[in-house]
Amino acid sequence: MERRTILITGGAGFIGSHVVRRFVNNYPNYLIINFDKLTYAGNLQNLTDIEGKSNYKFIKGDIASEADVDKVFSEYAIDGVIHLAAESHVDRSITDPMAFIRTNILGTTILLNAARKFWNGNWEGKLFYHISTDEVYGSLGAEGFFTEETPYDPRSPYSASKASSDHLVRAYNHTYGLPAVISNCSNNYGPNQFPEKLIPLSIHNIKNSKPIPIYGKGENVRDWLYVEDHAAAIDLIFHKAKPGTTYNIGGNNEWKNIDLIRLLCQIMDRKLGRAQGESEKLITFVKDRAGHDLRYAIDSSKIQRELGWKPSLTFDVGLEKTVEWYLANEQWLNNVVSGDYLKYYEQQYGGR
Ligand code: NAD
Ligand code: TYD
Repeated sequence: MERRTILITGGAGFIGSHVVRRFVNNYPNYLIINFDKLTYAGNLQNLTDIEGKSNYKFIKGDIASEADVDKVFSEYAIDGVIHLAAESHVDRSITDPMAFIRTNILGTTILLNAARKFWNGNWEGKLFYHISTDEVYGSLGAEGFFTEETPYDPRSPYSASKASSDHLVRAYNHTYGLPAVISNCSNNYGPNQFPEKLIPLSIHNIKNSKPIPIYGKGENVRDWLYVEDHAAAIDLIFHKAKPGTTYNIGGNNEWKNIDLIRLLCQIMDRKLGRAQGESEKLITFVKDRAGHDLRYAIDSSKIQRELGWKPSLTFDVGLEKTVEWYLANEQWLNNVVSGDYLKYYEQQYGGR
């Protein structure tokens, strides 16, 4: 098998850790470099199972620092970049947009510049793969789906910063010929998601009999995809997509928030040995998110048709697996909630 050195940014985060694990385990001839700043969302305890593997290397670094990025490009002959590092939470983007501009726009551009500079027109075998979101397309009414041709209409600081980064990736592809692909995915769920996002936050609160905050009336719709199915799509796209292309990835699995939380409550009641209906009492309607997008839904027929990808899990199975994981990994969740996970890098790697 071909040898390659792949830089995965944001590999200590939720989706990134599943992508890193998949590549380290499936491609023993690749060197996988996990390049991550370890913000509050970066957790190396997501990857303890692969820590000692010879084809895996963690480097603490900031994509928005030209010095950090140039250092890794000059020390390693990187031939592929899978770029997941980002500020990713819409609510945080409403309270602190600048962090999103810095990492998502400036950071992506610094990475693009490094790839352009170090690859220096020698594009053979090189690929810059940018991971993005369906939120760049804006908000749908009751009907319709986002396709790869849907015009961009981002409406939160998070989605606007991701849309900007997508445009910059396309501009580098068009202007300089940098081989680049983009995928735009719907909401992910599964193990290792930071408990600020709807599903892990709700699991944590239900378990601890705390209120489950539902924004507005819970009528907003999201299309949910199991994180390992996203990682499988990323693997396929990285290996098969033609430079200059874009793929939408989605679960074909739309849920109103309130219906999803009711289903989650039923599963939790069963798993925790509570009477059915007990956890639902924790549902608490709270003030709506500012500018809350009503509905996202992805048409993923292009990736299904061209690359043969489809989601492998039904939502019932995926959600049950997710609940089981959070209940079995109480220590992971407690470490995140207490902040102890932030000390792990120092303890294991001796760095700050
Ligand atoms: P996450 O917030 O769980 O993880 C982000 C990771 O990036 C963390 O490990 C963090 O430490 C790292 N990071 C942040 N700023 C950095 C910087 N300046 N330099 C280096 N590393 C930095 O995010 P996630 O949910 O895993 O999302 C990963 C990617 O997928 C993002 O680009 C996001 O926009 C995209 N995406 C996410 C979803 C979703 O549902 N979570 C859906 C579609 C697309
Ligand atoms: P989230 O997980 O933050 O993802 P995104 O905003 O990127 O879609 O939120 C998913 C949906 O759940 C979204 O409609 C907002 C809503 N939500 C709540 O109702 N309560 C919460 O506490 C959170 C975090 C989200």
